[in-house]
Amino acid sequence: MDRANRKRIALIGTGHRGTSMWGINVVKGYGDFVEIVALCDINRLRAERARGFLGIDAPIYADAQEMIATVKPDTVIICTRDSNHDEMIVRALEAGVNVITEKPMTTTAEKVRRILDAEKRTGKRVDVTFNYRYAPTVRKIKELLNSGVIGDVTSIDFHWFLDNKHGADYFRRWHAVEENSGSLFVHKSTHHFDLMNWYLDDDPEDVSAFASLRKYGKAGPFRGERCKTCPHASYCDYYMDISKDPWLEALYEDPSREDGYVRDACVFREEINIPDTMSAMIRYRKGVQVTYSVNTYMPIEGHFIAFDGTKGRIQMRQFERQPWETPEHDEILLVRNFGGAETITVPHEPGGHFGGDPKLQDMLFKPDTPDPLNQRAGSRAGAMSVLCGIAALQSAKTGQMVSVSKLLDPAQAIAA
Ligand SMILES: NC(=O)c1ccc[n+]([C@@H]2O[C@H](COP(=O)([O-])OP(=O)(O)OC[C@H]3O[C@@H](n4cnc5c(N)ncnc54)[C@H](O)[C@@H]3O)[C@@H](O)[C@H]2O)c1
Repeated sequence: MDRANRKRIALIGTGHRGTSMWGINVVKGYGDFVEIVALCDINRLRAERARGFLGIDAPIYADAQEMIATVKPDTVIICTRDSNHDEMIVRALEAGVNVITEKPMTTTAEKVRRILDAEKRTGKRVDVTFNYRYAPTVRKIKELLNSGVIGDVTSIDFHWFLDNKHGADYFRRWHAVEENSGSLFVHKSTHHFDLMNWYLDDDPEDVSAFASLRKYGKAGPFRGERCKTCPHASYCDYYMDISKDPWLEALYEDPSREDGYVRDACVFREEINIPDTMSAMIRYRKGVQVTYSVNTYMPIEGHFIAFDGTKGRIQMRQFERQPWETPEHDEILLVRNFGGAETITVPHEPGGHFGGDPKLQDMLFKPDTPDPLNQRAGSRAGAMSVLCGIAALQSAKTGQMVSVSKLLDPAQAIAA
């Protein structure tokens, strides 16, 4: 591709995700296709650190609207905290700029509707970065489902395991407050609900859920403000020494002088108001029934998924981290009704999420990348996965089953 025709991209939010996946990796791997022409972050120091890591000399802005008006990028990539994605998305669309937004697309039903309306009004495009769709094992499962080998899917059993490292990390900062992340039913489960929506090519309809806070926040045995100054550090299982991590030191600890954004806040602090233990039952429009759970303080990291169909079953346990050895590949078990079992081995690929991250970037940045599995996700996918999580949280709070389509279209709820 002629470098003069490269797409001009601006990055909003230069935290870990912005600087690594959408900064360093883009400069390293996609420089022939896109150019990062500006960076934006309300924390100037963090943006400067990010620019240093990227090795570019793009200008830095504190205000996204000013950046868009001045730099006029083709596309913005939004990597701010979840609760202000909508504001960033709508502003960019209204300025005539396409959007790539990190998941979750947003955090409330009202914000979902605002984004969908702005996209329709402006004719610009929103891409949502559902990288899990691109992991090799996930692609293989989708191919098997599309082939009809297990007939019509009738139920799914899906359980996601977050360990004491990754799971705890959501409780160290803004994610742990519902107003910022919509809770992990939105922030994290958006990936899982999107996978099911995409696997089934269907929309979730009714959701019933339970959720509780059992380990972190007020459930903890003691608390401090942050690990760095904590009197309980010597015996706390969740103690994290930020000074041992040069990346976190550079990108968060030093820039925290500017905004007080602490990266090692206490996982037991009182303000935590999201559940850490969640389960849901979901019924899809075409009738598929799902049993789902996510837990955030386990000794294992990974997931289990099983599809039952009219002609057989597919199941897979993906291992991400556990205190025993696992192979460098995944195994999918395919069992035909009244037939034999077959183990399909899928090797992991290089890059984040078992190779999913670079595949997503190929799709977004390399022109004419084929998309036979419909992996590229837009605002509709962003909306349906987020609404499923919002419905789950609402159900857990009220004890009532919640209709996803009524969240999308409140007129239906009034008419009902
Ligand atoms: N797909 C994935 O696997 C994956 C993984 C990690 C994070 N994420 C997503 O990426 C996003 C960012 O995550 P993170 O861990 O880097 O968060 P972070 O808090 O570390 O970084 C967010 C950055 O946005 C900046 N910011 C906040 N408000 C702003 C505003 N109004 N204008 C400009 N900058 C603003 C903050 O100062 C901060 O530097 C989140 O939405 C998260 O869900 C996705």
